[in-house]
Amino acid sequence: MSSFEYASAPESKSIANIATSYGLFVGGKFVEPKKGKSFNTINPATEKILSKVGYADKLDIDLAVKSARTAFTMVWSKMPAKERGKYLYRIARILQERAREFAVVETLDNGKPIRESRDTDIPLAAAHFFYHAGWSDKLDYAGHGSKPKPVGVVGQIIPWNFPLLMLAWKIAPALAAGNTVVLKPAETTPLTALLFAQVCQQVGLPDGVVNIVTGDGITGAALVNHSDINKIAFTGSTEVGKAIARSISNTKKSATLELGGKAANLVFDDAAIDEAVEGIVNGIFFNQGHVCCAGSRLLVQENVADEVLEKLKKRMSLIRVGDPMDKNTDLGAINSAEQLKRIHEISNTGDAEGASRWSPDCKLPSKGFWYPPTIFTGVSQSHRIARDEIFGPVLSVLTFRTPAEGIEKANNTMYGLSAGVWSDKGSKILWAAKQLKAGVIWSNTFNKFDPASPFGGYKESGWGREGGRHGLAGYLTSQVKESK
Ligand code: NAI
Ligand code: MG
Repeated sequence: MSSFEYASAPESKSIANIATSYGLFVGGKFVEPKKGKSFNTINPATEKILSKVGYADKLDIDLAVKSARTAFTMVWSKMPAKERGKYLYRIARILQERAREFAVVETLDNGKPIRESRDTDIPLAAAHFFYHAGWSDKLDYAGHGSKPKPVGVVGQIIPWNFPLLMLAWKIAPALAAGNTVVLKPAETTPLTALLFAQVCQQVGLPDGVVNIVTGDGITGAALVNHSDINKIAFTGSTEVGKAIARSISNTKKSATLELGGKAANLVFDDAAIDEAVEGIVNGIFFNQGHVCCAGSRLLVQENVADEVLEKLKKRMSLIRVGDPMDKNTDLGAINSAEQLKRIHEISNTGDAEGASRWSPDCKLPSKGFWYPPTIFTGVSQSHRIARDEIFGPVLSVLTFRTPAEGIEKANNTMYGLSAGVWSDKGSKILWAAKQLKAGVIWSNTFNKFDPASPFGGYKESGWGREGGRHGLAGYLTSQVKESK
């Protein structure tokens, strides 16, 4: 293949109208933070500053929560459900219309390949609004009681791996169910959320129904601890999820927590090996492995392990790493210097504990944050790389002899978010799916998402489900909770 080179095919940046600075989106307007503090967001592929965004502290959070409470009490909870649905449809349509702009901004701010933001993140975000628009006036039939009510004002905190998509997962069901929200994007990827704030203005969403406050973990904690929040919806690290659970334990606040994962991708000896290899690559190298449900533990049946590994290495040699704005790029930039450090730190324990590292030859750009696609073989269950979430393009390979051993190893984790099963026998797939302790199980595919399908985990992967009819449950109650 060395004689066959791809020409570069860069997506144009001209459609992205990124302002030099952004305020906070509170009460339907962009406002300056009370203390005038701000921070920069950069492009992780170049380390260049993209924009300066407001840093919200306690005072700003208080104003945002007040604006959400007023919008909830005065407007949104009183509006006929069918009217609410119309706003969600409008948002979905605008996201489709402005899809290219959103994809470019997402890639610049996050570092993910344009192919992924264009084909996955943005279309799925629009799909979530379409799907939940449909539920707005049918909540009586969602199986959550005859007259379910919204929970009230919801604080939502999202991570940097799928910035707009995680926003959609949070905001669409909350609004469909009649809640109002204060959402905090991750500090490294605030731009598509701010663009979304403009969409809220564009569709004429009543002021205060959606508030967007940018900031870091301290901002997030201020939101969690605000006394007039009825519910917290969080996606991020298990560590922060546990801290949130602790801080709301003495309150009436409810919570949905989507946390980490260490998913097993199980390849049985009767699987179609070429397809399984594609699924393994998609499972761990999609979005640089910054995926909570990534197939980061490959469990392959011993008698086909050599064949799988040989084909996997060949396939990995074809992965194109580099400029995320190039339409041919498969693996983009690591989202931040901090995340890169974390990937190095955990992966290095793989070498130290005796596993064997392999990466294809690939030239990494000199500026920005990069990590090559990597696999470790000779991994045992006690190794840190088999237990901890690396959240990068690093795969740990383990083997098993019997199906029962495969299941036992797959379940030997503190997480339980997702799993993959590769086999040509339907009965074996169903048998495996029944025993795997994971919220989402894919068979003969991986990383497939649909707004109608509930997503969430067992054990330390979190509480509750997002998406589908099940996801609505977290935003509904049979009794309206009193605000203080
Ligand atoms: P993180 O959990 O610190 O950040 C996620 C969000 O929570 C961000 O918006 C952040 O500002 C906010 N946050 C941080 N501390 C908070 C606090 N005390 N109270 C309220 N909100 C707070 O995750 P981080 O540091 O970006 O990544 C560390 C590791 O977490 C990753 O290496 C990965 O293993 C895991 N992670 C998992 C994600 C998932 O989708 N399950 C997403 C992001 C990270
Ligand atoms: Mg950024």
